[in-house]
Parts: sequence; structure tokens; C-alpha cells
Amino acid sequence: MLLNLSEHIKSMNNIKLINGISMPTLGYGVFQIDNDSCARCVSDALACGYRLIDTAQAYYNEEGVGKGIKQSGVPRSEIFITDKVWISNAGDGHAMQSIERSLKKLDTDYIDLMLIHQAFGDCYGTYRDLEKALQQGKVRAIGLSNFLGGRFIDLAEHFEQKPMVLQAETNVFHQQRAVRSILDEYGTKLMAWAPLAQGLKDLYSNEVICDIANTRHLSPAQVALAFLVCQGIIAIPKSSHRERMEENLQAVEVNLSAAEMDRLSKLDGSKAPAVSDFNEPNLTRFLLNYDAKFNPERQQKAD
Ligand SMILES: NC(=O)c1ccc[n+]([C@@H]2O[C@H](COP(=O)([O-])OP(=O)(O)OC[C@H]3O[C@@H](n4cnc5c(N)ncnc54)[C@H](OP(=O)(O)O)[C@@H]3O)[C@@H](O)[C@H]2O)c1
Repeated sequence: MLLNLSEHIKSMNNIKLINGISMPTLGYGVFQIDNDSCARCVSDALACGYRLIDTAQAYYNEEGVGKGIKQSGVPRSEIFITDKVWISNAGDGHAMQSIERSLKKLDTDYIDLMLIHQAFGDCYGTYRDLEKALQQGKVRAIGLSNFLGGRFIDLAEHFEQKPMVLQAETNVFHQQRAVRSILDEYGTKLMAWAPLAQGLKDLYSNEVICDIANTRHLSPAQVALAFLVCQGIIAIPKSSHRERMEENLQAVEVNLSAAEMDRLSKLDGSKAPAVSDFNEPNLTRFLLNYDAKFNPERQQKAD
């Protein structure tokens, strides 16, 4: 039996980061939502009961997130905002300037969690700026995204302040077990992007997921999200549809049995991830050119 909205918010499982701050285990991601639609989506998500919003400089929708928060009427202190520094803003001083721009766009005095989005460019300079921003109270926690295996260890070993969160592609088909054992050494929490495998890979028709969903009167998406949340993995599903936002959020209340978890854990590796190798030359070139190609502010200047 699923709880009503106010009970949801009260009982929303929180996870504690190594510096003692708490964040919700289930949040709302805004990748591929344009700036104009983003305010409506974020305000809907907050009305559903989400209290964690995941954006990034390279989603070009930080203003929309800020507007959605204002429109929702939910106090800023109740909301946890995650943001990410893009490659073109990397390096000492540059990253800090970009954080200041993000604060303006989000219309807020602080960002709850700031990540380095990709392991390219001057990541060490960026991380130094994240540490400074943390000391200055501009951000409350810092971490990484898409730093896998050796890249994560290298960065973590070079800094006193260990990353508090690693965001990486994680779902029933790609469970990141090797990554998780590395994170455990540093006390870093895993935050799953593409927790629904981006709506691809037959997640909603998979035999095991659908069998558990039917038996438990849940949807396949709820089963896939509960599988992560039950393991203490933070998940940030994206949907532009309010009814799906609600459906996804209810996964936070689902306790899967050991037998159900065991069946789902066997799906690991059964489908290819969206990104299997961040060092693949074409992907690297695409990411390095991403801002020049897709940033609407740069396009306006060029016009
Ligand atoms: N750090 C990174 O490099 C990185 C990369 C990718 C994503 N992210 C973050 O992670 C978030 C989530 O990842 P994602 O957006 O790539 O993929 P996702 O959340 O796994 O999947 C989103 C897709 O699933 C559909 N969907 C959502 N709920 C559904 C439901 N209950 N039933 C059926 N379909 C449903 C959505 O469609 P509708 O919108 O039409 O409902 C959308 O097409 C992003 O928004 C972003 O914040 C980070």
C-alpha cells in the first residue's frame, strides 16, 4: 500500500554524505528538458513531493530550475539542488566564475551539491575551485560525475576532501558493482543517472521486472527505481509527465524482498549501457565540442 503525499515527503529516505549533510535518495533529473518547459516540470515535481533536483550547466536550463522553484512556493531550505561544472568551464578561477553564474541563473545563494560533470579538461583546477566554493559556503557538498575506475581513484587520491558523491550511469542492467566497491573505500555515495535506462533497453517489458511488478501491483519503473533506492543508491529519474513523476516518486516507499533483489541483481550486464567507454575518441570529441555546439547563449552571440 503506497502512502499519501504528505506522508511521502515526511518519510522520504535521506542519505548522509561524508561531511554530514543529508540528501534525498530519490530525486528529479532535468536532462533534455528545455529552459522554457523546465520551470513547469520542476514546479510539478516539487508539488508531487520531490525535494532533490538534478541539473547541470550543460543542460542549459538552470534558469528554468530557478523559476520552477520560485513558482512552486516550496521554501529553498527544503530543496536539494545538484548542479555540474561543464568541461568548457574547467580550471582554477574559471570553474569558480561558472559556479557564480550558476548561482545567478538558479537565483539562489548556494548549491547543495556541485559535481565535475566529465573527466576532461583541467579537472584538478576545477576540484580546487569546488573545495574553495565549499569553504565559502557557495556549495554544501562536492563530487564527481562519470569519473570511473582509475579516474575516480586518481582524483580522490590527490585531494584531502574526498568526493562526497559520484554520479554514474546505473540501473538494473548496469549495476556498477566494481565502481561501488571503490566508492566504499572513500565513503563516496553513488548517484544513478539513467536509473530507468533512459526509457530504452526494454526495461518496461523485461520479463523479471514485469513479473515482480505484477506480483507486487507496482509499475516496472517503480521496481527498477526501488532496486536502486533499497541499496542506498540515489536515483534521479526524469519525466516530463506529472503522472509518471508521481509514479516514480512512490518507489521510495517500496521494500523489495531479498529474493526479488536477488532476481533483479542477476540482470546486471544483460544490456549494453548508454556509455560503455568515455575514452572512445568520437565521444571524447563530441563532449569537448558540446558547449560550442549546443550552448544557446553562444549561438545567440554568433547570430
Ligand atoms: N551525469 C551525467 O552525465 C548524466 C547523464 C544523463 C543523465 N543525467 C541525469 O540523470 C537524470 C535521469 O537520466 P535520464 O534522463 O538520462 O534517463 P532516465 O531517467 O533513466 O529515463 C528517462 C526516460 O524515461 C521515461 N520515463 C520516465 N518515467 C517513466 C515511467 N514511469 N514510465 C515510462 N517511461 C518513463 C522518460 O520519458 P518522459 O519524459 O516522456 O516521461 C524519459 O524518456 C537526467 O535527467 C539527468 O539529471 C546525468
